[in-house]
Parts: sequence; structure tokens; C-alpha cells
Amino acid sequence: MNGLFDISGQVAVITGGSGSLGGSISKYLAKNGVKVAVIGRTQENVDLRLGKIIEAGGEGIGLVCDVLNMAELKAARQTILEKWGRIDILVNTAGGNLPGATLTTEQTVFDMKIKDFNEVTDLNLNGTVYPCLVFGEAMADKKSGSIINISSMATMASITRVPGYSVAKAGVEIFTKWLAMEMSTKFSEKVRVNAIAPGFFISTQNEKVLINPDGSYTERSQKVIAKTPMGRFGDITELNGTVHFLCSEAASFVTGTIIPVDGGFSSFSGV
Ligand SMILES: NC(=O)c1ccc[n+]([C@@H]2O[C@H](COP(=O)([O-])OP(=O)(O)OC[C@H]3O[C@@H](n4cnc5c(N)ncnc54)[C@H](O)[C@@H]3O)[C@@H](O)[C@H]2O)c1
Repeated sequence: MNGLFDISGQVAVITGGSGSLGGSISKYLAKNGVKVAVIGRTQENVDLRLGKIIEAGGEGIGLVCDVLNMAELKAARQTILEKWGRIDILVNTAGGNLPGATLTTEQTVFDMKIKDFNEVTDLNLNGTVYPCLVFGEAMADKKSGSIINISSMATMASITRVPGYSVAKAGVEIFTKWLAMEMSTKFSEKVRVNAIAPGFFISTQNEKVLINPDGSYTERSQKVIAKTPMGRFGDITELNGTVHFLCSEAASFVTGTIIPVDGGFSSFSGV
């Protein structure tokens, strides 16, 4: 591969690598010669994704770890450093909406339980901040690395039913910019921090609100498609190119950015 885009030999940590987007990104990176540590909450899901990496001829390890637990994150970092001696890439995909924090069409914001609001903001904001601190420190020490956070379309303009999730993802975006500044000014310009804002991709966490039991699109799906100039949902493999770019030397002057991968959703007024 062209040297500018060669990412082989790097070591990546994928939080939520047990899930849809994270699993797909893990497999893609492994196929491109990256050693991948898959982090997830259950052994079963971690093993499932690790199996796909091995099947694809890649190298990986699976670690059960809660992204909200600093002690578990630090233990994971130690395991990875003992095995591979370095961490070059962090992709923070752990997160998503939680059922209790997603308002039904009949509810208003005043029906939302504070406990659910706190849980969804904690997972989506601190669940990204804590891994950035733990794995980012290993990058700051060796003065190179690429952190990729995952934001959402819910930060660009309001999206109905998901207040806590939206607030947390907006926090992820400003933390991404803040950490990009901190890494470049205090450690090395070679530690870059960016975020991807995916449009709409069908995955385990959102399929119930997007797909009816009979397989047809829900009313919400139809609204999404109508505001997406490409007129379709994304395929999760369509995030791989942007992830690859951000991990490579081709992105050497790119830090603090939020890149939409959304079929045009965020740039279209809908009219
Ligand atoms: N699917 C979409 O259309 C879409 C759009 C925009 C943003 N996103 C974001 O992309 C990310 C991945 O979403 P997905 O669709 O793959 O969801 P997913 O539910 O398939 O994957 C998320 C993974 O994170 C893991 N996880 C949750 N809490 C954790 C914790 N405390 N510690 C460790 N792991 C934990 C889950 O077990 C799961 O495997 C999320 O941040 C989501 O908000 C998704």
C-alpha cells in the first residue's frame, strides 16, 4: 500500500469493539495489518468479534472492561502494553442510546427519569473521556497516536426523543477539540484527536426505532431518508475509509475535526 495510507503494524484499542460499528471497524483494521484490542462488556460479545478478526487472518485480543471504570481501563492498558508495547490508535465506539432515556412519541422531556438521563450522559460522555485519558496517556508518553471519537447527527440540530444522548455527544465534540489542543500544545503534534459524526446506520441499538417488526421502515426512518440526499441508510463498512484516513500519515495535519459520514444529512436543509 502507498506509504501515506499504510497503517499496518499499528496497535489499536476499540472500545465497544463488541458492537455493530466497533466490530466492523475492528475487523477492517485487523484486515489491514493493525493489531486490535477489542473492548466490550461481555465475554460472549468480545469473543464473537475477536473470532471474526482471527477468521480474517488478523491479530487481536479481547478484553472485558467497563469504559466507565478507570481501574478496569488501566488494567486493560497494562495488558495491551505488556503484549504489544504500544498503543497507536483509539476508537471510542462504546456508547449509544439507552431505552429508558429515549422518549416515546407520547412522552415529553418532563417524563424523563433523571436516573436514565444521568446514565445515558455518563456512558456517552464519560465513556469516551475516560478511555481518552487512559489510552491517550500511553500516546502522550510515546508522542504519537490517533484518537477517534464517535459523535452523532444529534449535535448538529435537535433530533426528537433523545435529549440526554444529544447533550452527551455535543460534549464529546468539544472534548475532542479540547484534547486535540492539549495533546498538540503540551505533548506532541503527532498525537491527533478527531471525531466522526455518523449519519444513520442500522445497528442493534437503533433498529427497533428504525425498522418495524415486519421489516418495513418506521415513520422515523422515512423522515431520516427524506433528509438524506443519498436517500438511504449508511452501510457500517462506509465508516472504514474515514477511520483509515484518520489513523494514517495522510491525516498528519488533521486534528480537532468532526467529520460527518452521513450521506449529506447534516448539510441538507430538507427542502
Ligand atoms: N448506529 C448508528 O446509526 C449510529 C449513528 C451515530 C452514532 N452512533 C454511535 O456509534 C457508537 C456505536 O454504536 P453502535 O450502533 O455500534 O452500537 P452497539 O450497541 O452495536 O455498540 C456499542 C457497544 O458498546 C458496548 N458498551 C456499552 N456500554 C459499555 C461500557 N460501559 N463499557 C464497555 N462497552 C460498552 C456495548 O456492549 C456494545 O457492544 C455509539 O457511540 C453510537 O452512539 C451510532
